[in-house]
Amino acid sequence: MYSKAEQKQLFELSKKLLSAIEMPDILDDLRKSVIYHEWRYYALNDPLISDFEYDTLYKKIEAIEAKHPELVTPDSPTQRVSSDLTDDFPSVEHLTPMLSLDNSYDAEDLNSFDERIRNYLGLDENFEIEYAVEPKFDGGSIAIIYENDNLARAATRGNGAVGDEITPNIRSLRSVPLQASFSKFGIQKAELRGEAIIRKDAFEKLNEERAKDDQALFANPRNAATGGLRTKDSSETAARKMEAFLYQLGYATDANGNDKIPGLQTHNDSIQLLEDLGFKVPKTTSKKLLPERKVCKNIQEAAAFCTAWQKQREQYPYEVDGMVVKVNSLLLQQRTGSTAHHPRWAIAFKFKAKQATTKLLNVEFQVGKIGSITPVAKLDPVALAGVSVSSVSLHNEDFIKNKDIRLGDTVLVERAGDVIPYIVKPMEELRDGTEQEIVFPENCPVCHTKLVRQEDEAAWRCENPECEAQVVARMVHHVSKHAMDIDGFGESMVERFYKMGWLRSIADIYRIEYEQVAQLEGFGEKSAANMEAAITKAKKNPIHRFLHSLTIHHLGIKASKILAAEINNVLDLKDWDEERFTRIKDIGPVLTHNVIRFFQHEKNILLLQELESLGVNLTQTDQDIPKALNADGPLAGKTILFTGTLHQMGRKEAQAKAEAAGAKNISAVSGNLNVLVAGDKAGSKLKKATALETVEILTEEEFIALVRG
Ligand code: IVH
Repeated sequence: MYSKAEQKQLFELSKKLLSAIEMPDILDDLRKSVIYHEWRYYALNDPLISDFEYDTLYKKIEAIEAKHPELVTPDSPTQRVSSDLTDDFPSVEHLTPMLSLDNSYDAEDLNSFDERIRNYLGLDENFEIEYAVEPKFDGGSIAIIYENDNLARAATRGNGAVGDEITPNIRSLRSVPLQASFSKFGIQKAELRGEAIIRKDAFEKLNEERAKDDQALFANPRNAATGGLRTKDSSETAARKMEAFLYQLGYATDANGNDKIPGLQTHNDSIQLLEDLGFKVPKTTSKKLLPERKVCKNIQEAAAFCTAWQKQREQYPYEVDGMVVKVNSLLLQQRTGSTAHHPRWAIAFKFKAKQATTKLLNVEFQVGKIGSITPVAKLDPVALAGVSVSSVSLHNEDFIKNKDIRLGDTVLVERAGDVIPYIVKPMEELRDGTEQEIVFPENCPVCHTKLVRQEDEAAWRCENPECEAQVVARMVHHVSKHAMDIDGFGESMVERFYKMGWLRSIADIYRIEYEQVAQLEGFGEKSAANMEAAITKAKKNPIHRFLHSLTIHHLGIKASKILAAEINNVLDLKDWDEERFTRIKDIGPVLTHNVIRFFQHEKNILLLQELESLGVNLTQTDQDIPKALNADGPLAGKTILFTGTLHQMGRKEAQAKAEAAGAKNISAVSGNLNVLVAGDKAGSKLKKATALETVEILTEEEFIALVRG
């Protein structure tokens, strides 16, 4: 439909139009680019720009057309609902048009929406309009007709007036009753509107299955759902485990064709009716999350509910891209009416975009504390879920190669919840040939030592332990929360003191002259005293913290604790040979090798002695000895592992309960594992444990019963 060159041109045009002034001379370009992006979204299921950017373009057309009504053409995107029709199914007409929704992004937008309705209806400003608010499910729209209590026909939204008929597919969805007693409510014919969606966990499983069968993976639950609606084989629809959420009674008439159904005064009444008939609808109650549906007494309450929902978005088991705010009274809805594109009585409150496209401008190579080189992409700053993102990790060379990311590429970036932003993929169709391969440096960008990459490792590494970048990164790690936990001593302070020549090795941290610190800009007596107190406290740390602070590759917190329990003094380790390490369960050969190598270096021994003479504790403390496990507990002597989401307690709490019952928590599935507690969405660990056949697998409830008993 569009050539590669056209696509690139349209993409660049739309980026320019985003900041263009709304003058009639850009109307054609705006329409062209909106139509192009509708095609990417509806036909390809692969949008190039965020919903927010699309709306910005769309609203510009609306603004120009509002000022110049003579320029409105029938083919303008504002005059129709965009289409997802295909040639694969018979077309059927909807009983009433299935419109789109207007969009809003904040409380202010919602206020204007409320004001527009008030003006339109000539309502007094003290009159409070009641709103029904519910999630905006992100899947594929459907319309289902029931006649004489039987499911008669189902269709996709199509172009709003006609849709693809997909009755057999909808009949395969278990959440859709084939019969429902509409007649009890005096309804002979009804058209229900809703969204077919896939739970996030069902989507993960679906993709896992597809990966096993070498089938192409779905990009997101929405694509899997819209595709599932359109399969020719309804057993495939059923296999996708879709659910239909009904959010509107679009049409209802009695046996005489009369559309006044007694008892139906509000949107909420009609959803309640559908719920009573056994349909899946947004619910008014929820145990842990906010309810899915709420009647709000005015727009302020509706706005507060929307904002609160945005915060719990990631916890919700389905993808939602916003909320829908609807005038609750059906009478007011009717009086407010619709434009050709959307009802005036409803609006979507869109959550902040999780995905966006932007340009990859440059790649920097950062040196970590053990010399690993991390490529970091510098991006043209882009707003994602409320923050500006200008820099994302590219992890390693293979990540770049596998995704074929190039300098100058337009890339799709995602940031979901608290997850660190990452590059989903480069937009290959937007390349113009000027993009360049990302070349990994051969030498360390800081000390210029030749980089090496071990066969079994993903990272290129600078093996010069004196490399300035590594020395600083090691000091930053030493003072960090999980290591020596020196309060108030962060990365910027380490860098500052390093530049001033005060810090050359971690021993210098314990030699800091606090009187001099007090003289520094931004410090004073008080902050210098705080620093002294934090460092003095750190000197007394248990040795597992100290071991972890040494930056020995793979010596994490857990392994440090295991080792700490076995030694009297950190320096004991210099006399340990391989055989001594193998006697400890959970300490593998790689870590053994790394620890031995560390203690073989005379310089390291001198450093430890120096630290000890500066007052840093190197001897085992009470906190280094694990509490005795309960030898009589129901899980005495067993190893246990928790996987998946637990509902009745947090992971930490569960582990503590297991320990109290005599079990030992371990982190990997292996021959050593005795018990696996599988919560919701348990994935590869559960699979592996099942395959081993020696692991006892418990549900969360069974685990609770066991430790209680
Ligand atoms: S009401 C006439 N409510 O959003 C008003 N729509 O952009 C019609 N959607 O294609 C929409 N959840 O399929 C409404 N709770 C909800 C919704 C919802 C998802 C979809 C709908 C439509 C799109 C509009």
